[in-house]
Amino acid sequence: MNILYDCDPGQDDAMALLTALGNPDKVKILCVSTVGGNQDINLVTQNAGHLLAFCEQQIPLVKGQAGPLLNQLRAQPEAHGKTGMDGSGNLDKYNYPVRKDNAILFMADILKKQPEKVTIVATGPLTNIALLIKTFPEALAKIVKIVVMGGGIDHGNVTKLAEFNIWTDPEAAQIVFDSPLEVVMAGLDVTEKTTITKKQIASLQAGGSVSKLAGNLLRFYQKSGEQFGFIDSPVHDLVAMEYAIWPELFETVPANIKISTDHGDTYGQTYIASETSDNKGTENVLIKRMKVDLFFALLQKSLLFLDQKLDS
Ligand code: BDR
Ligand code: CA
Repeated sequence: MNILYDCDPGQDDAMALLTALGNPDKVKILCVSTVGGNQDINLVTQNAGHLLAFCEQQIPLVKGQAGPLLNQLRAQPEAHGKTGMDGSGNLDKYNYPVRKDNAILFMADILKKQPEKVTIVATGPLTNIALLIKTFPEALAKIVKIVVMGGGIDHGNVTKLAEFNIWTDPEAAQIVFDSPLEVVMAGLDVTEKTTITKKQIASLQAGGSVSKLAGNLLRFYQKSGEQFGFIDSPVHDLVAMEYAIWPELFETVPANIKISTDHGDTYGQTYIASETSDNKGTENVLIKRMKVDLFFALLQKSLLFLDQKLDS
């Protein structure tokens, strides 16, 4: 399967990326694009580059939109640290080239040249993907589906009703969810239930170089999650990537998912429109659950693959 990975690393984006890199027999990442979200665009791009260099990759990395379509970016250093991906130690020696291309043009060009359809996995605000859809409608024919970490049907994590990625750029999210493409939503409903324990994190820290890096990142993330009431860590973005790779392991339902762009309490809310609504859009897919033990086991196995490759 070929994918475009759009992200704002982020410790949980990092787990998603490492998991994809740890399964080269199943996934080929055609391009990693970044978007302002967890942190400023330069920092998240640097974080993506550090991970790709650490894992000795040669995947094109391209810097996308610095901020949302309409709003100012409000980054989340309190959740992810000053760099947006604290906990990794000093990765400054892991330099990685960032392409000079405009990210939207670059993604459109990749899609145009692909003989087969591509899956998009997006684990940051949907700014780049909305611009891709609006600017290059012909690219839609080359996309199988978009797997999004974002939203939460019954609650949010930034406001009572809105989750961070959707709340950061609700107008972009509306463009993506209302597009004719199949959008699969890995929202808080599932991601807050697929958690990783402190013991599991410690077991990664005792592993090879990539497992250790992942464990250190997760250790920071787990600690920081405690301020929001989480003891076990919800590794949100990893759910989206695991779904893209192993969809058969997830329970899903079709759902007419909508995004509120009304300025008020519901701004950035994801909700399911009723059957009778005039506002009927495309049917999307809502992830309901996956087995929590399996969630960690797949991460662990992916990291082990990378350890074996890099440490031998
Ligand atoms: C989402 O927001 C970011 O902080 C995480 O990386 C994840 O993509 C969770 O709400
Ligand atoms: Ca993210």
